[in-house]
Order: sequence, then C-alpha cells, then structure tokens
Amino acid sequence: MKVLVIGGGAREHALCRSLSLDPDVNALYCAPGNAGIAEVAELRPVDALDGAAVARLATELEADLVVVGPEAPLVAGVSDAVRAAGIPVFGPSAEAAQLEGSKAFAKDVMAAADVPTARSYVCTTPEEVDTALDAFGAPYVVKDDGLAAGKGVVVTEDRAAARAHALGCDRVVIEEYLDGPEVSLFAITDGVTVLPLQPAQDFKRALDGDEGPNTGGMGAYSPLPWADPKLVDEVMETVLQPTVDELRHRGTPFSGLLYAGLAITSRGVRVIEFNARFGDPETQVVLARLRTPLAGVLLHAANGTLDTEPPLRWSADAAVTVVIASHNYPETPRTGDPIEGLAEVAAEDGPDAYVLHAGTRREGEAVVSAGGRVLSVTATGSDLAQAREKAYKAVARIRLDGSQHRTDIAAKAAEGR
Ligand code: AMP
Ligand code: GLY
Repeated sequence: MKVLVIGGGAREHALCRSLSLDPDVNALYCAPGNAGIAEVAELRPVDALDGAAVARLATELEADLVVVGPEAPLVAGVSDAVRAAGIPVFGPSAEAAQLEGSKAFAKDVMAAADVPTARSYVCTTPEEVDTALDAFGAPYVVKDDGLAAGKGVVVTEDRAAARAHALGCDRVVIEEYLDGPEVSLFAITDGVTVLPLQPAQDFKRALDGDEGPNTGGMGAYSPLPWADPKLVDEVMETVLQPTVDELRHRGTPFSGLLYAGLAITSRGVRVIEFNARFGDPETQVVLARLRTPLAGVLLHAANGTLDTEPPLRWSADAAVTVVIASHNYPETPRTGDPIEGLAEVAAEDGPDAYVLHAGTRREGEAVVSAGGRVLSVTATGSDLAQAREKAYKAVARIRLDGSQHRTDIAAKAAEGR
C-alpha cells in the first residue's frame, strides 16, 4: 500500500513511524513533513490547505490512502478534494469537521444526541454575554466559536476578563465550569462503526504543577492507571457512538478520527470538546502502545468497511512523551536554534525511547528548531515509572539553546495518585 500523510508535526511523525513499521506499507510519503519525518517517509512540498494541490499530489504518487493530520486542512475541505479524486482518505469532510471547527455546531450535535456536556449558551451580543456569565458564575468558561489553534478558550475567575474575551469574538460559547481530571479518548470511525483507542492524558500548561499559560500540549501518557476500567465502554456508549450516529443521520457522516476531550466530574463524564483529528501529544503515546498494524485500520475507516476489523490489539506497556519547546514558547517562540543529541538518543536509548519531531527542519548537516514545540521525546516501559525514566533520560541528551520542558509529565500517575 502507498500512503500519503498530510502535515508536519509530532503527530504526523508518530503516524509515519507507525505506518513505516506496518508490513503492508511499501511506500510512505509525507507532505510537507519535517526533518524527523524525512527519516521514515519521503517528503513532498505541498500547501496542506490547498485541497486541489493535495489531490494532485496524491494522484501523481498513486496513493492508495491519504491521511490528513491537522484540523485546518480538514476544515478547509482537503479530504473532500481527495475523495472527489477517487482516492480513499482518512479524515472527515469539511462539513463533519465542523464538530471541531465550530463549538456551537458541536454543542448542537451533542444536544440532539443526548451526549453529556457542560450546559452552555451561544452568544452574539453583549447582553447575551452578560446574561450567560451571570447564569453560570465563576469560574467563567468562554470559548470562541471558531478554530483558534488552542487560543480560543479562556477559563477565569475574573468576570471582566471573561467579558472582554467574549466581546472580542464574533460568536461565543459560554458554558458551565467542569471540575475533575481531563482524559482524551480517540476513536477511529467510518461513520457507522466506531473503534475506540486507549485513553491518554495530556498536560496543557507550560510549567510544572500545571502553572503558566496554556499551550498546544507539553506531554502525555497512557494508560491511565487511576481511571475506571469501564471508562472506554461508558464513553463509547454515551458519547462516541451517539455522536457518530447523529452526524450520519444529519447526512454528514463523520469518518476519520473522533477525539473526545472529557472531564471526569463528580457527576460523571462530560465532553469538554471534540476534535476531528488525532490529538497532539496524546497520539505519540497511544500509537506507541498500538499493536495492530495501522494502515489497514485507517484504510477500512476510509472505505467504510471498519465492521470487518477485529478489535484493536494493545501492548501492556506504558508510554510517556515529553515535549521540548523552544525559548519563549508559547508567547514568542524563537526558531533557528541547532538541535544536538539526536544521534545519541538513537544510539543509546533505542528502540524503547525515540525522538519525534514537531517543529524542525534541516539546514545543511544540522537539524534546527522551526516551531514552538520542537521535539516530542517518547518512551515505553513496563509501567509509567519506567517509561518516564527512559523518556527523561533521552530528554537529558538533547541540547537546544533556551529550550524548556516540563519535569512532571506522568509523575503523579506513576506514583499512583
Ligand atoms: P478546549 O479548546 O475546548 O479543549 O478548551 C481548552 C481547555 O480549557 C480544556 O482542555 C480545559 O482545560 C479548559 N476547559 C474547556 N472547557 C471547560 C469547562 N467547561 N470547564 C473547565 N475547563 C474547561
Ligand atoms: N492535545 C490537544 C489537542 O490535540 O488539541
């Protein structure tokens, strides 16, 4: 099978790594990719937001499957363009990707499907904003309706700050605050059949102890030893299957990766958000534990034949990933700094620990930083403590001037807290 992956972050590196290990994959391309992905896939330049260009590239490569990684191309209709060219694609249509692209659409789908989520109001005027803020009280949760690359959500005790954020958006969702630990649960679906993956937890704040600003994600781990063993079954029944069914009944079937961001509250599981693609950095740990070869599952999802796929097989190992971010991430990340130590990790720590590239590019012989999140150092072990130890040992070998990483990824869970 010839596979083309669209995107160029650590999630796409994790996807390409798994696909490169799949015996059914005999040609693997990534566009545009990055310096790390170049080691497992052939890179092609493309404007990932240009559906016609992606479809042309897929046709030229005679791809049997296109996998669209990030949300922006999905919302821009890249899957539709590839599908229209007659090539199977893993990733929802632009219409179905509104589940991530519009918070208001997601709320509407959840209400119709009886999926548990925070109570909310969609507001377009200052009067509606004031009414909603006062209805729920502090802490205030204010979400820009559109795609905002993780910057659209403000959670604050400060009413004035909540109001100011709301008035800066055209359309805003104001909702009830949800208490309790967060879990990310992904499912692969063809629009009818839903195959859940294993749950993971990510760390959104920049600094240890969940301090500092929100980021795209500073680390993740899986499995979750503290979670109820029935969590996956429960979320399948109350969230994933009803959402997939509702979208199909609306005539906008969702095929691809359905990402449920959940809060485990004292009153039960609630959906915080949906995404329409693999999450980053959770994908790095979830795929590290997946034993079923990936390409066939994604192709079945793309072709609408997922009902023929047996349940996914998982390693009993635990996985941890630690993100190394550039100087001044997330505010004004500095790029262009050389990265050293990659060869040492490969020589000393492999195959249980490896470096996935997020924002990197090659400059002559050197690999340099090219984004806010630069690397995602991933390791597996017999338990979380061992996976953590291996991941941090590899992190310590990497030299990147001014870089930062959290030192407490999976620490509490490894100690049984
Ligand atoms: P979202 O983009 O919807 O995932 O929101 C980003 C982050 O804001 C989430 O991961 C949560 O940490 C937080 N958040 C979002 N909605 C709520 C809520 N209703 N209650 C508490 N925290 C929330
Ligand atoms: N891990 C958060 C996200 O991918 O949106």
